Amino acid sequence: MSFGIGIIGAGVMGADHARTIFRDVAGAHVAALSDIDAARAAAVGGETGARRVDTDAHVVIADPGVDAVLIASPDATHAELVLACLAAGKPVLCEKPLAATAEACLRIVAAEAALGRTLVQVGFMRRFDPAYVEMKAALDAGALGAPLVLHCVHRNVSAPVWFEAMMAITNAAVHEIDIARWLLGAEIVRAQVVRSRTARAADPILLVLETDRGPLIDIEVFVSAQYGYDVRGELVCERGTVSLAPPVATDLRHAGAQSFRFAADWRPRFADAYRLELQSWVRGLATGRYEGASARDGYAATAIAEACVRSLDTGAPVDIRLADDPQS
Ligand code: NAI
Repeated sequence: MSFGIGIIGAGVMGADHARTIFRDVAGAHVAALSDIDAARAAAVGGETGARRVDTDAHVVIADPGVDAVLIASPDATHAELVLACLAAGKPVLCEKPLAATAEACLRIVAAEAALGRTLVQVGFMRRFDPAYVEMKAALDAGALGAPLVLHCVHRNVSAPVWFEAMMAITNAAVHEIDIARWLLGAEIVRAQVVRSRTARAADPILLVLETDRGPLIDIEVFVSAQYGYDVRGELVCERGTVSLAPPVATDLRHAGAQSFRFAADWRPRFADAYRLELQSWVRGLATGRYEGASARDGYAATAIAEACVRSLDTGAPVDIRLADDPQS
C-alpha cells in the first residue's frame, strides 16, 4: 500500500518535503501538489511525480487519489486548510504553526475532537531529531535525576527585512517551546521576555519560562547572528547534564586551530528530523497511531508564543492558562 500525499505549498518547506517523500519515505508517494504560483507547482510536481498540480489547494484536498494532506503554505493559510482537511475526513500534517492564533488552533482542536479520531499532526520536527531523542532518553533513564533547567540557543544567520521581533518568538522560539514541553513532560505556566537595551533592541531576545513541574527554561533567540545556523540545548539535572552535540560532519584541524562548519540554515541541521517525521507520519497513516505533535500540542505552542509576545510588548511576566483539553 502506498499512501497518496497531497502537498499544499511548494516553497522552501513544501518542495523539500515533496522531494523527501519522493526519494526517502517508504509507503507514500506525492499524488497531488498545489501552489498559488502555477510555475512552482508544475516544477516541483513534475520533479516528484505528482499526477495532478493545481493552484487551488481545495482541489488537492478533494482529490480521491489524495489519502492525506501535508500543508506547507504560509502560516496565515493553515487554519482554513486544516479545517478543510478535517471536513473531508483526511489526515493532515500541518507545518508549524498549526494556526496563526491560539483561538484558531482551538477551533481545530474542537473540530478534530468532534470527529472522534486523531487526524492532525503538527510539523514540530525536532521531536524526531536524533539528538533531542537521545537527550530525552538520557533524562527518562533516570540516572541524571530530576531536570532543573533547560538552556536553549536559537541563532539564524540573518532575518528577512520584513521580520519583526515578535516573529523571533512565533517563528523561531516556538520550536524550543514545543521541544521543551515534550522533553520535560511539563506545561509552561509563566513567561517573561526581555529585550536588550542596546541599539539592536529587538535582536537578540531572551525568554524565561516557568513550568508547572518545576524545571526552568531559558531561550536566547538571535536571528541575525551572521556566523551560521546554530541551535544548542543543555539540560541541567540534579546529577548531571546532557547537551546537544555540535552538528559535526567533519572536524578540521589546520594552522593551529580546530574548527567545524555551521549550516547556513535549518535544513541541513534538521534533514534527518524532517525525514524521520515524514516516515513516522506515514506509519501513522497505516496504524492510526501518531508519534508527533498533536493539534493540542499545536494549540499549546501557539498560546504560549502569544503569551511571550505579550510579555515582549509589555516587559512584564505573563501567566499562562491553557484551555482544557476536550480529549481528556
Ligand atoms: P515559502 O514562502 O518558501 O513557501 C510557501 C509557498 O506557499 C509559496 O510557494 C507560496 O506561493 C505558496 N502558497 C501561498 N498561499 C498558498 C495557498 N493558499 N495554497 C497553496 N500554496 C500557497 O515558505 P516556507 O519557508 O516554505 O514556509 C512554509 C511553512 O512552513 C510556514 O508555515 C512556515 O512557518 C513553516 N516552516 C517550518 C519550518 C520547520 O522547521 N518546521 C521551517 C521553515 C518554515
